[in-house]
Amino acid sequence: MKIALIGYGKMGREIEKTALERGHTIVSIIDVNNQEDFDSLDFLFSAEVAIEFTRPDKALDNYKKCFERNIPVVAGTTGWLEHLDEVKKECKEKNQTFFYASNYSIGVNIFYAVNEYVAKILNRFQQYDVRIEEIHHIHKLDSPSGTAITLADKILNHIDRKNQWKKSSVEHPGDLSITCKRQGEVTGIHEVLYESDADIISIRHEAKNRKGFALGAVLAAEFIKGKTGFLTMNDMLKFTI
Ligand SMILES: NC(=O)c1ccc[n+]([C@@H]2O[C@H](COP(=O)([O-])OP(=O)(O)OC[C@H]3O[C@@H](n4cnc5c(N)ncnc54)[C@H](O)[C@@H]3O)[C@@H](O)[C@H]2O)c1
Repeated sequence: MKIALIGYGKMGREIEKTALERGHTIVSIIDVNNQEDFDSLDFLFSAEVAIEFTRPDKALDNYKKCFERNIPVVAGTTGWLEHLDEVKKECKEKNQTFFYASNYSIGVNIFYAVNEYVAKILNRFQQYDVRIEEIHHIHKLDSPSGTAITLADKILNHIDRKNQWKKSSVEHPGDLSITCKRQGEVTGIHEVLYESDADIISIRHEAKNRKGFALGAVLAAEFIKGKTGFLTMNDMLKFTI
């Protein structure tokens, strides 16, 4: 496929490597200093998909630029979900293609499925309180991570005694605590813990590097070819629980 990269930071560079290894071509790379390339011939007429990993405050604008130019989007930036409804609406109205995952790692998506399964079981066992802990590198702009929020949303769907997530420690037992730590260059660690007076059950995922995110994003680019609408990892991986 002919791929455009929007954002050429840590993820953009990793995705470029993975895309080339899988036989794709990078036809355009757009970063802060060459925004005019959204109107370049390579972007407008060659790119079959744009893979976007930039910053929370720039993502919406980049998605709109792709919609205006009929370029399907694989969206990786996290921390912009307050605009999710707007993106879904625009995608539908303009008959565009938009794939979003808070985490493109296949391993994390297996972890999501396990998280849901464990939550369904633990809903019956009131003696367990549940919390989430996440650790990321110090450069990360959003907190909690998009991955932690996805984990929390699934827990809230299944654990009736939890009503909303809250950052850090919580006072109300109906709140689900997400503790966020920022340390060195940690790629990403997420843990869901169920604790009773007697024991702790925990499920944990640790990313060793960015390869898993990059592979998932390139697989998503391959997956959306010929499709329209708002798509997610559930459409691609089709795990059933
Ligand atoms: N969904 C996932 O699986 C996943 C995995 C890792 C990171 N992320 C997210 O992806 C985003 C990028 O992460 P990163 O580690 O590559 O960050 P980074 O800071 O290394 O790179 C971001 C790049 O975007 C560029 N940029 C900023 N504004 C831009 C704009 N308007 N247009 C084009 N480029 C612009 C920056 O110059 C930089 O090169 C973050 O939001 C991060 O949380 C998501």
